[in-house]
Amino acid sequence: MALAAFLATLPSVKAAGVLATGPQGPTNPPEPTLGTSINQTSFARLLSVNSVDDFCLFAPPAPQNIGDSETYEVAWCTKPRNDARVIPDGTITGVSFLKTDFYVQILGYGNLTRLNVPNGDYGGELDPHGQFGAGNPIGGNVTSNVTGSDQHFAEWMQYISYSQFCLRICTNANSTYSAADMCWHELDEMGCEFVMPGNYKVNGTFESCDADVAYPPGWYPTATISGTPVFSTFAQRYTGTESNGHAYTVGDTATPSAPYSTPSSSDCRTTSTISNGIPLTALGLAAASTSRTASKSSSGAKSSSSAPASTAGATKQAKSGERKTKDYSSVDLLKMISGVGAFLLFN
Ligand SMILES: *[C@@H]1O[C@H](CO)[C@@H](O)[C@H](O)[C@H]1NC(C)=O
Ligand SMILES: *[C@@H]1O[C@H](CO)[C@@H](O)[C@H](O)[C@H]1NC(C)=O
Ligand SMILES: *[C@@H]1O[C@H](CO)[C@@H](O)[C@H](O)[C@H]1NC(C)=O
Ligand SMILES: *[C@@H]1O[C@H](CO)[C@@H](O)[C@H](O)[C@H]1NC(C)=O
Ligand SMILES: *[C@@H]1O[C@H](CO)[C@@H](O)[C@H](O)[C@H]1NC(C)=O
Ligand SMILES: *[C@@H]1O[C@H](CO)[C@@H](O)[C@H](O)[C@H]1NC(C)=O
Repeated sequence: MALAAFLATLPSVKAAGVLATGPQGPTNPPEPTLGTSINQTSFARLLSVNSVDDFCLFAPPAPQNIGDSETYEVAWCTKPRNDARVIPDGTITGVSFLKTDFYVQILGYGNLTRLNVPNGDYGGELDPHGQFGAGNPIGGNVTSNVTGSDQHFAEWMQYISYSQFCLRICTNANSTYSAADMCWHELDEMGCEFVMPGNYKVNGTFESCDADVAYPPGWYPTATISGTPVFSTFAQRYTGTESNGHAYTVGDTATPSAPYSTPSSSDCRTTSTISNGIPLTALGLAAASTSRTASKSSSGAKSSSSAPASTAGATKQAKSGERKTKDYSSVDLLKMISGVGAFLLFN
């Protein structure tokens, strides 16, 4: 093992706030484990992100909108692991897996109705904080082995809709970027492409790359003073009601349309598919059919084709003491905001 990889496995070498220190969620095995038995009704919530074909996503245990099921979503993994459910072959249609010095990120596309996300649901954002402080899902935990061995990490964020997902686990920090900032969890209306910049043109291909570190979500460098960068930060706007009934509004009035930059990637390797080879029938599903069946359910198809692919994470459950769930999709919100105008005038 290279020295750097070895050092990264030593807890004392990690900055504060990177490694998870609390107990494992009650539904989870103590450690990430490959080769656990298949159980498609499992409630395990241990998610691992190790490679383009070895990752998990949190999704509903039964068909239900993300916004309504985020506290009890379960882990679905590309391979049988972690006592979790198995993502059926053919579900994921494209992936970009990125390894950086500060995080590992996986983004992609799929028919996530097979993971119980209702067709047309623009989804929401999951993170280890949640309105009850115990994570969304409660008891959800994450690991990655990109540092050289399996490690439990404290900060992560996942956006998922019926057709798209993106997930970042923050594996490192320094005095400029904390793990919490790099996995900042309060931009649930902004969608994957803003919060986790990367190559989103991957539907139909599976790539694995190294990449430079992005600025934390919502951070924009404005100056460098004595060698130290200075940033402005964007805070998503919303209006809520305090427990005493007083309305309050926080956040910026103008919403940026894009992150400051998309970091460049290198050393990309691509494959045309990922597969665990498990027959669909072994997952309780009908065998894959090669015949094309015309679908009559045109209303769902219409709403999916009119929606951009960048809207994962449209709704989020209110945190206690904050707003109640809004019904605006990101598309509605961006329309409302563009009425306000003034791109990049936030500070
Ligand atoms: C598991 O998740 C809970 C809730 O977010 C957190 O408090 C705890 O630190 C995590 N433990 C591990 C080992 O990841
Ligand atoms: C599958 O998971 C469910 C929920 O955790 C559990 O009740 C059930 O016993 C498990 N089945 C098997 C065969 O392990
Ligand atoms: C998604 O999967 C479901 C269930 O297998 C299937 O009925 C539906 O046609 C698929 N949708 C697309 C767009 O392939
Ligand atoms: C991490 O997981 C991947 C995918 O399962 C595996 O190929 C790789 O060998 C693992 N790396 C380490 C250091 O365990
Ligand atoms: C922290 O890491 C980032 C990304 O590599 C780097 O730009 C920044 O200068 C580092 N901060 C310190 C204090 O070393
Ligand atoms: C991704 O590709 C699949 C297969 O071609 C397609 O059915 C699906 O609509 C695409 N997803 C998005 C979000 O464009």
